[in-house]
Amino acid sequence: MYKVTHKEEDKGKFKTPSLRNVAFTGPYMHDGTFKSIETIIGLYGKGPASPETHLLHGFPNDIHKPLIAFLKSISAPPLQFEKPEIP
Ligand code: HEM
Repeated sequence: MYKVTHKEEDKGKFKTPSLRNVAFTGPYMHDGTFKSIETIIGLYGKGPASPETHLLHGFPNDIHKPLIAFLKSISAPPLQFEKPEIP
């Protein structure tokens, strides 16, 4: 956000993306750095990487599997449908 507003307090801020269909929307993050959800959860689990990410407190390893299962459960491939005939 800083590159748009040039306000000091906006450093490190990004639009928080929707997690709907996240299993199919990789590569992840604003620059596509991460190829898999597993990598992101591994990093979030470790806690804040910089002062700007202080809201991420980290979590234990046994949470990873159920968390990834949850993210997959809110993902579904696009519905296939017949293209309608336009009159
Ligand atoms: C366990 C909790 C969380 C999970 C499972 C989670 C999961 C994810 C995932 C999968 C992405 C990548 C989405 C994409 O690129 O399409 C993402 C990005 C992001 N998340 Fe989270 N997140 C969590 C907590 C948080 C919290 C607490 C915040 C903010 C306070 C946050 C802010 C963001 C932001 C700003 C991005 C975009 C970063 C970028 O584009 O570089 N997330 N998150």
